Amino acid sequence: MTTRTPLMAGNWKMNLDWKQGLALVEELGEQLKDVDTSKVDTVVLPPFVDLRTVQTAVDAGKLPIAYGGQDLSAHESGAYTGEISGQMLTALGCTFVAIGHSERRQYHGETEELTNAKVKAAFAAGLTPILCVGEPLEERQAGKQVEYSLAQVEGGLEGLTAEHVAVSVIAYEPVWAIGTGEVATPDDAQEVCAAIREWVRAKHGDTAADAVRVLYGGSVKSSNVAELMEKPDVDGALVGGASLKAEEFAKIAGYQG
Ligand code: 13P
Repeated sequence: MTTRTPLMAGNWKMNLDWKQGLALVEELGEQLKDVDTSKVDTVVLPPFVDLRTVQTAVDAGKLPIAYGGQDLSAHESGAYTGEISGQMLTALGCTFVAIGHSERRQYHGETEELTNAKVKAAFAAGLTPILCVGEPLEERQAGKQVEYSLAQVEGGLEGLTAEHVAVSVIAYEPVWAIGTGEVATPDDAQEVCAAIREWVRAKHGDTAADAVRVLYGGSVKSSNVAELMEKPDVDGALVGGASLKAEEFAKIAGYQG
């Protein structure tokens, strides 16, 4: 059981246009009325084009939901066609941004250097980065999940201060568990999440290690979240498919009962 405030983040990926996004966020607000939201941070990461609508709905309904982007540009502004800057996200009330998701690394060729530059861009804009790391199946089968994930943590957090690391979120998402229905066992999740925290401890000290929130992601559902959350180094979940249903995601946020 974590000693930090649990964080449940829903990554909508490339799903739901603004009207569907509006319906989901309003329904989620409704469902969260049954949840003690003072005990958990609930975050949604909609597609960029839904953010303005989500902002309006959250503000109008005073919903206990934070939101953010699924990515951002490493650049501040300028001639970068198709890109979205950190400042544009903060101007919409975003407080979080996912960075280095395995789908960005895999399908968009995002490197460690780029991921690191994006983490720095997030801080420069006042956003909290959710740095995503995690091994593909091959590395897991070779028993290299810790080594592989820590290399991504090290690359992504390169050059950051202990103060920045302390307020960062790191999501361990083993690639083989994403969208496959194959959830890592709580012990698998704990192994890598603990190793990430120990890496932070060795590099940035106790304060950062005890504060940084480490999430697990990969086929998380309301039926398996509680056992994952029993582990001391799992501080929350990054949820894909199950975050697209308000009732299901609210149950995940309300896993404490
Ligand atoms: P699923 O929950 O659909 O497996 O997706 C996990 C994920 O990639 C969240 O970022």
